[in-house]
Amino acid sequence: AKDLGIDELPAVAIIGGSGLYDPGIFESPVEVQMHTPYGLPSDNVIVGRVGGRWVAFLPRHGRGHKYPPHRIPYRANIYALHALGVRHVIAVSAVGSLRQDYAPGDFVVPDQFVDMTKSREYTFYDGPRTCHVQIGLEPFTEELRKALIEAASKYNKVHTSGCYVCIEGPRFSTKAESRIWRDVYGCDIIGMTLVPEINLARELGMCYALLALVTDYDIWVPHQPVTAEAVEKMMSEKMDIVRRVVAEVVPKIPSGVEAKCKAVLENACV
Ligand code: ADE
Repeated sequence: AKDLGIDELPAVAIIGGSGLYDPGIFESPVEVQMHTPYGLPSDNVIVGRVGGRWVAFLPRHGRGHKYPPHRIPYRANIYALHALGVRHVIAVSAVGSLRQDYAPGDFVVPDQFVDMTKSREYTFYDGPRTCHVQIGLEPFTEELRKALIEAASKYNKVHTSGCYVCIEGPRFSTKAESRIWRDVYGCDIIGMTLVPEINLARELGMCYALLALVTDYDIWVPHQPVTAEAVEKMMSEKMDIVRRVVAEVVPKIPSGVEAKCKAVLENACV
């Protein structure tokens, strides 16, 4: 912490769109370039104070949106945040909706996910150490979910549960795929960035929750297909609210949850 010129390491990180970083919500921000065994993270990490706590911020796609979902250096991102002392990750991302009642403009705080990605670096345990880390019961940390739901409900419609299907991208789904995610897999929202971010955080014993913003109805329902431009537009329209939610949730993260998140590492390795 001293090397960074701050008095305490950040225990909380926000991973989200670049639009989320507004010096307005960060006091005394410093920018840190992190090097990891997995290369450089998406961008420099910004460390600043939010509501009296030190928080790290990392734009998932890098400044200028230079990393598409399947090229994001997920391992470097999570490794760098962990090395900075981060134990809680609040992720923010845009998702499509797979059901009528989850409307564009709504928030969802998901509680389950299905991984349909194909070609990513999924693990820190690539051998010779072999570990199988639990994620089934509570992939998203319940205490963080609660805090997010409470903060977000003051400003916006929030759906308090949901299953997120993560597709490989960068293309959107076909109508046939979209109907499978919805009717066969029983998923509620769809995106391209949750995996492997969530399971890498889990492998390092970090807590993780997601504030998902519904930007569109996916193509299961007959309508004009979604465009990247429309997704970005909805994101920027809601960014003020997202910033407010983040500022409010950070000081409310209960202490002591770290131990529970870290406990998944016990007996995980053979
Ligand atoms: N991100 C935002 N909307 C999406 C959609 N419809 N499919 C996949 N990822 C998305």
